[in-house]
Amino acid sequence: MAEVGAMLTSAVLKMVGKQVSSTISGQIKLQWDFTDDLKDMKMTLESVEAFLKDAERRSVTEKSVRLWLRRLKNAMYDISDTINGFEADSTHNKSKIFSNLSISAKKKTAKDMRRMRGELKKITKQHRDFSFVSENSSNIQKEDSSDRKTSPKVEETAIVGRIQEKREILACLSEKILTQDFIILAIYGMGGIGKTTLAQLVFNDKQFKEYFPAWVHVSQVFDLDKIETSIITQLSKRAPNMIDLDIVPPNLNIIIVLDDLWENDGFKLDNLKLKLKIGNGAKVIILVTTRDKSIATRFSNVEPYKLEPLTNDMCWKIIKQKSAFEGRYDREWLEHIGKDIARKCGGVALAAQSLGYILHSKRADEWESVRDSNIWNESTSEDTSSPHHMLASLKLSYLRMKPCLKMCFGYCAIFPKGQRIVKDDLIHQWICLDFIETSKIYSPKQLGEIYVDELLGMSFLQHSKWGY
Ligand SMILES: Nc1ncnc2c1ncn2[C@@H]1O[C@H](COP(=O)(O)OP(=O)(O)OP(=O)(O)O)[C@@H](O)[C@H]1O
Ligand SMILES: [Mg+2]
Repeated sequence: MAEVGAMLTSAVLKMVGKQVSSTISGQIKLQWDFTDDLKDMKMTLESVEAFLKDAERRSVTEKSVRLWLRRLKNAMYDISDTINGFEADSTHNKSKIFSNLSISAKKKTAKDMRRMRGELKKITKQHRDFSFVSENSSNIQKEDSSDRKTSPKVEETAIVGRIQEKREILACLSEKILTQDFIILAIYGMGGIGKTTLAQLVFNDKQFKEYFPAWVHVSQVFDLDKIETSIITQLSKRAPNMIDLDIVPPNLNIIIVLDDLWENDGFKLDNLKLKLKIGNGAKVIILVTTRDKSIATRFSNVEPYKLEPLTNDMCWKIIKQKSAFEGRYDREWLEHIGKDIARKCGGVALAAQSLGYILHSKRADEWESVRDSNIWNESTSEDTSSPHHMLASLKLSYLRMKPCLKMCFGYCAIFPKGQRIVKDDLIHQWICLDFIETSKIYSPKQLGEIYVDELLGMSFLQHSKWGY
């Protein structure tokens, strides 16, 4: 995957940074002459790291940034290979130090060092031309949340399926509310699958007509005060004297949606829970949407709800709607192409919707090229036929991963899509490649298991029918 390839850079950079550090600190025996070179490289790597998040984000739309990332990544591999070469030399020469190596080996090492430093300098010089925003800048976060802001409004007639899912959630809530005053139910599933849409359908159901409603788009930036203020503002439209969640009129029925929760810090989640436990006879239903199974499980106080992908037929229905298929004279001809495209959506509503828009008023040969193209693996802004919005949306999940998890996931890209992978083998390969971080609590094998669970939780890996 071209995209993942470009995005992997930060993970690779972190790994190589670690490798350089351990070489400097003498874990790998080197001749002292090179310490300065390595220190210089380390500083350069650290300065680049601060801008990488922005670079990764922009790589979705800017080809030049993608090329720059690729160049940086290749330079990282080069550094890593050279350090591995030193390591092999020093192991081979056992107690001998670098000065005992042959003159030609010394020369080669010195040349390699110079070349790598030069290449790294060139790459970092270029990064100034892109005016990347540093990781700490608030611009990055603002853009994310404003892009994805949601509201409770939904055009129910345009929604395909999800009747059964809505029914199941309503049934669960009505049953639990008989015995529980405070319910938190999280809907989880992969990006774009329709979690927010399902939450909208439930939130707007007549069953909650008498409830005091509040809809909060939490987003990637978790701000407890903002969440609280937003809830109070919305609830006070119906209960004007309400200025605090601790002092509410007695016996209220409240329904709150916390849409798009990404925070997985247990402490912060517990604080939020505490705030929402309103008391004073209130019955409170909290519906949460998140991509992350572990957040869903941690935050819910009833069984979280796993939202499954749509069927291919449903995706086809969405494509038909968005492309105004029924009004076309050539629809008989297009039908089988459209169904092939629908299959490629993998049950993701957002994919079907994006493609539907793209196919609108396109000729039959253009439908064919969408079906046959590689848009599923890459995206460029110059290519307006690419479902770029969809990829950018799914990429958010990837960008949130820890660097080592990115590496492990990136490694899975060597397997063809749909390939069955034996879990223990995969973990073993990650360990051998040194992709797993070190921990004082867990063994590499245990951490590998945790990574597999996290990737499964984010739907980046799937259980196969025969285990995995
Ligand atoms: N069943 C459906 N029928 C038609 N359109 C749908 C359906 N489900 C979702 N959509 C559309 O697909 C898009 C993505 O859906 P939605 O925002 O609900 O996904 P999501 O799972 O919440 O994604 P994310 O993880 O990015 O928050 C929306 O524009 C929505 O209107
Ligand atoms: Mg959503």
